Amino acid sequence: MEWQDKYTLGHDPMDETHKEFIELVNALAGASNEEAVAALKALITHSEAHFAQENHWMEESGFPPIHCHIGEHQRVLASLGSVLKMAEKGNPGLGRVVAGEMPAWFDNHAATMDAALAAHMRHVGYVPAAVMA
Ligand SMILES: [Fe+2]
Ligand SMILES: [Fe+2]
Repeated sequence: MEWQDKYTLGHDPMDETHKEFIELVNALAGASNEEAVAALKALITHSEAHFAQENHWMEESGFPPIHCHIGEHQRVLASLGSVLKMAEKGNPGLGRVVAGEMPAWFDNHAATMDAALAAHMRHVGYVPAAVMA
């Protein structure tokens, strides 16, 4: 999947995190069967930190639809986790299937939940104290 101008949400730390997310989805999509489990784990590690960071910003800035947004993050982590289990049990190609589903998910999530959070943080003048490493 390619970075698109519409993904720039005007919140630099969030935009940087989203570029990393896309890189890891692409690495998983292009992974061999031997590489797929490690690539899936890398995407999961990133996503845990990515979503925890946004969840933290939501709490601190008082984002009204916080539960809806956290719920979407939880659902994605749960499905990535169950795919990892199946991939580790001998079906590594499933990792690539998940990479194929991520672009549509991200396109929608970025345009709705993340765009709303970025706009909210700008509106209330919230500046995050810590940025994901
Ligand atoms: Fe995000
Ligand atoms: Fe999000």
